Amino acid sequence: MQGSLFHFVVRSLAMKTSLELMLWHPVVALADLQATPVAVTLLGQPLVLWRDGEGQAHAWTDRCPHRGARLSLGQVVDAGCGLKHLACPYHGWQFASGGRCVHVPALPDWSPPPSHAAQAHEVQEAHGLLWVRLVAPDTGATLPTELTRPPPFEPASLAGWRSVVCGPYAVATSAPRLVENFLDI
Ligand code: FES
Repeated sequence: MQGSLFHFVVRSLAMKTSLELMLWHPVVALADLQATPVAVTLLGQPLVLWRDGEGQAHAWTDRCPHRGARLSLGQVVDAGCGLKHLACPYHGWQFASGGRCVHVPALPDWSPPPSHAAQAHEVQEAHGLLWVRLVAPDTGATLPTELTRPPPFEPASLAGWRSVVCGPYAVATSAPRLVENFLDI
């Protein structure tokens, strides 16, 4: 049985866990996530977005576990057999889709331990956008249905409906004022 959103929020507040961290947020248009890494910031946290050889999108903390270089300044490299890795721009460590380091150029015969890994976050693709959740809910509450996926947008499935992904736009106002403006039509 799914818990209610209200009770989930109350539990989250009681545990001092930021609810925002546990929600899905759109971070980039899928059309903009191609062959090169993309840097974004979500709730103050720098992320690197990239696609592996199987077309799976990834969102990792934009920090190499070796010396802290920004992985978004690196590149997606062919690893053979249709696989792709994300290579750090500093010493060239390569990370596979799960985040684990699988190749160190200075020690090509060495197998890095699992602890040598980038920090991966959950992603989902929906409505032409890539969505990221920084923290999986862990409040002891059963996850409300509303939080298991990016918010539904039913009109997008209607025949004749055309979706247009636009923005982002920088607007110098508060979030409530912005929402009010969109609803005031
Ligand atoms: S800082 Fe990334 S490989 Fe050294």
